[in-house]
Amino acid sequence: MSKRYTITAALPYTNGPIHIGHLAGVYVPADIYARYKRLTGNDVAFICGSDEHGVPITIKAKKEGVTPQDIVDKYHANIKTSFEDFGITFDNYSRTSAKIHHDTAQEFFKTLNDKGEFIEDVTEQLYDAEAHQFLADRFVTGTCPKCGNEEAYGDQCESCGSSLNATDLINPKSAITGNVPSLKETKHWFLPLDKHEDFLKEWILKGHKKDWKPNVYGQVKSWIDDGLRPRAVTRDLDWGIPVPASGGEGKVLYVWFDAPIGYISSTKEWAAREGKDWEPYWKDKDTKLVHFIGKDNIVFHCIIFPAMLKAEGSYILPDNVPANEFLNLEGKKLSTSKNWAVWLPDYLEDFPNMQDVLRYALTANAPESKDNDFTWKDFQARNNNELVAIFGNFINRVVVLTNKYYEGVVPEASDFSEIDNETLAAIKAYPAVIESSIERYRFREASQELMNLARLGNKYLADEEPWKLIKTDEVRTKTIMFVALQISSALATLCEPFLPFTSTKLKGILSVSSNGFENQWSDISTKNVLLPSGHQIEKGELLFSKIEDKTIAEQLEKLEASKRANEAANKTLEPQKEIITFEDFTKLDMRVGTILEAEKMPKTKKLLLLKVDTGIDIRTIVSGIAESFTPEDVIGKQVTVLVNLAPRALRGVESEGMILMTETAEGKLVFVNPDTTVKSGLQIS
Ligand code: MF3
Ligand code: ZN
Repeated sequence: MSKRYTITAALPYTNGPIHIGHLAGVYVPADIYARYKRLTGNDVAFICGSDEHGVPITIKAKKEGVTPQDIVDKYHANIKTSFEDFGITFDNYSRTSAKIHHDTAQEFFKTLNDKGEFIEDVTEQLYDAEAHQFLADRFVTGTCPKCGNEEAYGDQCESCGSSLNATDLINPKSAITGNVPSLKETKHWFLPLDKHEDFLKEWILKGHKKDWKPNVYGQVKSWIDDGLRPRAVTRDLDWGIPVPASGGEGKVLYVWFDAPIGYISSTKEWAAREGKDWEPYWKDKDTKLVHFIGKDNIVFHCIIFPAMLKAEGSYILPDNVPANEFLNLEGKKLSTSKNWAVWLPDYLEDFPNMQDVLRYALTANAPESKDNDFTWKDFQARNNNELVAIFGNFINRVVVLTNKYYEGVVPEASDFSEIDNETLAAIKAYPAVIESSIERYRFREASQELMNLARLGNKYLADEEPWKLIKTDEVRTKTIMFVALQISSALATLCEPFLPFTSTKLKGILSVSSNGFENQWSDISTKNVLLPSGHQIEKGELLFSKIEDKTIAEQLEKLEASKRANEAANKTLEPQKEIITFEDFTKLDMRVGTILEAEKMPKTKKLLLLKVDTGIDIRTIVSGIAESFTPEDVIGKQVTVLVNLAPRALRGVESEGMILMTETAEGKLVFVNPDTTVKSGLQIS
């Protein structure tokens, strides 16, 4: 039965590109769901957009010396393109800086304010006097009172998921200056979550929410059991949506107040463009509202946003919030700031036209019920052992043999054997099997069922061996190929939610995208023949290709390199040393020296044995530079030498001085030397 679905995917913060964690946790499952709902004949609004307010964007802008608007413009375009590139079929991708969103969010706030749904209160909030800034959200870090995580933010602890008020943090510290904040009075609007406690209990705990994923239900239950408190929905910031109320001058809406309303404004924008009415998608009781999010967003989508919608009064509430756990990368937490990630634009550059491989690897290994690990080895194995060896291999055999034996024309079938009948019946059962998994938000399971259909095809061919039979029994061979072509056609349709690019390609090969032969999802279980005898197919192209070990090694090396570069760039500068007198300074005798000879110290990794002309004499210096320079690199170089350092023995060799060095961001040592050639022995002063 056709239904109306409003499917939302978390609006990404617009302060960097999208990485595989975002894709695996939110956007791929949401897209599979939306595509599947469309294919099964429902009315779908699949909604997303950029989350352009909030502190992370302000911090990034400050760091780069540009405006927040510059940051969001850059990444809005970048993210939008990535979603399109990976076949994420949003019906609308909006942005929270759009006028329609500012208007919608302000109107929503005003409605609640007029209804007396807020508490206005002057309270003491954390303040950084040096930065002249109130500290909320990510402007302040401290210890989480619930779990002890020392890096909790002012609105949330990402470790235990708890939502916090900034003043709850133990040992708060300003993220701007590092100072310990003071307290200062300021006025804000609070949403009294405690007032909605009974409703939330009724709706979530006693309602039908038992069909929510256990990780989601469990978190929500524990917060409600802990007791809810009023929560500020305004902030003393200048980047955001102005508070539309008297006394709200210079204040903006809290980002987590405005962002979920972004789902509504994005739906409005879409409806206006399509000439539709947006309201049924948010207000009709028969509409199913489903939020796809990551686990750090659970509290906002299961408690705060529903409380807002309920307080407003005219909206429906989410039917389900299938939040995922986190994806790790090679055993470590994905991190934007530590550059430990696989960014989508980079992936596409290294693996052009291989979006489906990533979609599949992330789905087959999705972090649905626990955190999961993405490894390049697993990615390679999913591609080589499943997509290439099973799916691709099956299709390739069918297409090549059909072209070879019958010039690409689907042959006539005659008497079906028992195995043929079983196989044809099995095809018909697949849509229901896949549906049942998707309906329970088990996308990994669904993707494996799809692969099982390809497996079935592979096994059928391996058992029936048409390539042998063609020599002895042409009639039987035709029947086998007919059955195999039916499986191929079912795969072309059923793989669409998971492997959309492959689906298009395969439909092209089977010539079913147009001319009346395209099968709908429901046809797979009802029609006896999906691809009729006499139908002409195309010559094949390979759907997938093998990924070599070398390619995987390159990705691993790339990750390591970006990590090293990042560590070097983030190296904290040592504080200035104690003041010395001019006399202290004049004790140092530094001179320009010229390296005359160099050789590796035997049995060491780091040391070079140098002969240096100091102008005064030619002496031996042992220097720890062998990882940055070969002996040939340094012979003839002019360097700065501290010549009156007391000699010391290194690995049994007396070193008579020290060469001055510094290090690049990549960790390579460099000399401190005169920028033109001078006479050896000249003093540095
Ligand atoms: N920007 C948030 C994040 O990346 C998600 C916002 S979801 C919405 O964690 F509901 F606010 F839209
Ligand atoms: Zn915590």
